[in-house]
Amino acid sequence: MATTEEGERVKGIVLAGGAGTRLDPMTRVASKQLQPVYDKPMVYYPLATLMEAGISETLLISTPHDIPRFEDLLGDGTPWGISIEYAVQEHPGGIAQAFLVGESFVGTDPVALILGDNIFYGALGLAEIVEGFTGGALVFGYPVSDPERYGVVELADDGKVLSLEEKPARPKSNLAVPGFYLYDGRVVEITKRLKPSARGELEITDLNRAYMEEGTLRAVPLGRGIAWLDSGTHDSLLEAANFIATIEHRQGLKIACLEEIALDRGLVSLQQMEATLSAMPNSTYRDYVARVLGEHRSEA
Ligand code: TTP
Repeated sequence: MATTEEGERVKGIVLAGGAGTRLDPMTRVASKQLQPVYDKPMVYYPLATLMEAGISETLLISTPHDIPRFEDLLGDGTPWGISIEYAVQEHPGGIAQAFLVGESFVGTDPVALILGDNIFYGALGLAEIVEGFTGGALVFGYPVSDPERYGVVELADDGKVLSLEEKPARPKSNLAVPGFYLYDGRVVEITKRLKPSARGELEITDLNRAYMEEGTLRAVPLGRGIAWLDSGTHDSLLEAANFIATIEHRQGLKIACLEEIALDRGLVSLQQMEATLSAMPNSTYRDYVARVLGEHRSEA
């Protein structure tokens, strides 16, 4: 279980609701985060990111229509040695609303929020970041060629956040804020003080700005060698799938295989994974889990 320097446990939220209108007509029957990104559902990727951060208590938030599908897919997380709870967001009232929907889950614990359509690949050092978290809030800054499409963070040389702007016409930097955020145990209380924006949403940028104004927001720049993909349009979804397929074929290793992460992190025993494997139908995904399990067996 992930704990901070102060020994507080860190929980995780996967926000997987929203309208997904840009992926219409695919999202008429199943939400965006249930769509495939090459060989697994999109939601596997953010869940894998939380597991790699050492977070094993997760709340998944989605729409009333889609929550049952996520429950069918992920259950209570037992096969991966984690716990997954579920909560409904009745209407897409903004990303920061996750902390009101998840109030009883979060309580006063620190929490990482990841958007269900954000895919991270590469050595982000998340487990170390979570373990070294000392309070306030933490976001990343990822260089992009089109910052005006994102929340943009401007950093001083010492890593202090100078400004934070949502989709600025004239961006002050090329650093976009990806959909992974870490907050201290005051996040629910601070979210309650936010006012909805002109579009009627509780904006994540406003929450981050509240931390910035009290001087406790840190932004970690992500360098080369890290991929941050979002998959909310037909083209970005295809690009994400091609990216994953290219790396998986080349290396013979899967990205975001939850069973592999569970074994690597010692979250489940070999016997437990054998039982999980025997319940899986034949597929190349199953073949991969069998291979990984075999490797762990021979190391044991
Ligand atoms: P967006 O991509 O901004 O919105 P969307 O998913 O509704 O898509 P579209 O613009 O095509 O209609 O949302 C980013 C992520 O946050 C995505 O994973 C959905 C999630 N989200 C919620 O779960 N609830 C919300 O209230 C909002 C605004 C987003």
